[in-house]
Amino acid sequence: MLTMGQVVEHEPMGNEDQKLRRLVLKGPIAQSARPGQFVAIQVQDSARASLDPLLRRPISIAEISPERDEIALLYRIKGRGTEILAQARCGDKLSVMGPLGNGFSLPKEGELWLIAGGIGIFPLYALAQSALVQELKVRLFWGGENQSFLESAGLLRWQNMELPMYLSTVDGSLGVKGLVIEQVREELLMLFDRSQLEDDMRKKKINVAACGPKRMMKAVTELCGGFQVPVEVSLEERMGCAVGACLGCVCTLLNKAGRPIHKKVCVDGPVFRGEEVVWDETC
Ligand SMILES: Cc1cc2nc3c(=O)[nH]c(=O)nc-3n(C[C@H](O)[C@H](O)[C@H](O)COP(=O)(O)OP(=O)(O)OC[C@H]3O[C@@H](n4cnc5c(N)ncnc54)[C@H](O)[C@@H]3O)c2cc1C
Ligand code: FES
Repeated sequence: MLTMGQVVEHEPMGNEDQKLRRLVLKGPIAQSARPGQFVAIQVQDSARASLDPLLRRPISIAEISPERDEIALLYRIKGRGTEILAQARCGDKLSVMGPLGNGFSLPKEGELWLIAGGIGIFPLYALAQSALVQELKVRLFWGGENQSFLESAGLLRWQNMELPMYLSTVDGSLGVKGLVIEQVREELLMLFDRSQLEDDMRKKKINVAACGPKRMMKAVTELCGGFQVPVEVSLEERMGCAVGACLGCVCTLLNKAGRPIHKKVCVDGPVFRGEEVVWDETC
């Protein structure tokens, strides 16, 4: 759906060095958006009435408030497109396509483990909220560069959800020093007795949703696969059209027979089962 979203809030998040922004848009997308879906937002410089940059920028839908007709996008200023987007002011109307893609699936029961690397945390907030409404148990594993990053990227809001949280930072300034995967491994080893894996799986019913750097999602998929824990990952590819027409975002997956097939991240994804992704071709 192509629509106009009116900017109702647009503010820096935390420490300015992190270049993070929270943009709230009012419009009909909130009525049908699901966690894990994204929008493709036009970032042209209206002051210069130019068509440059031509391509819309994909940003995940981080918060969904149907009752207020609002969605929030959390983003990092990275290059020209997001620099222009950062100039949008309250009251501006932005051209937005969405909601796009398929989103995460919500298990009917059991526990949902959210595993995030860096700004991969952004699409997981809406998922956590939906899971809690459905009375699922939720745990968050989140790794980032340092304390400043985690705090800027919304740590307090997550703490307010009162979930079990496992934090890690590369420099050890908050949580455990190291990579997020290590804490996931420890928890899995504590929960599952490999000698009675089938039985444990039936009882514990854990599902994982992961978003972050591809190497992290690959490691999560491999680790959880060893415990027969299903994983969904959200892939990020550079996008052209965002609606399945340009083939700019094609990735390689395995079909049910184990044969490689090509899929478009924009319409077939961005969320896929981790085990179907051919990581060596996507990393
Ligand atoms: C489905 C999806 C959801 C996304 N959700 C978010 C989000 O919630 N928050 C957020 O901050 N970002 C998100 N991104 C990434 C975001 O789209 C890019 O950061 C943005 O398009 C960069 O545009 P730019 O013009 O500022 O930078 P550009 O000038 O286009 O690029 C700056 C640098 O970033 C690299 N780059 C740009 N886009 C990507 C990409 N998709 N993957 C890898 N490298 C890239 C370029 O190669 C270049 O080195 C998402 C991407 C996808 C595909
Ligand atoms: S971005 Fe054009 S097909 Fe996916």
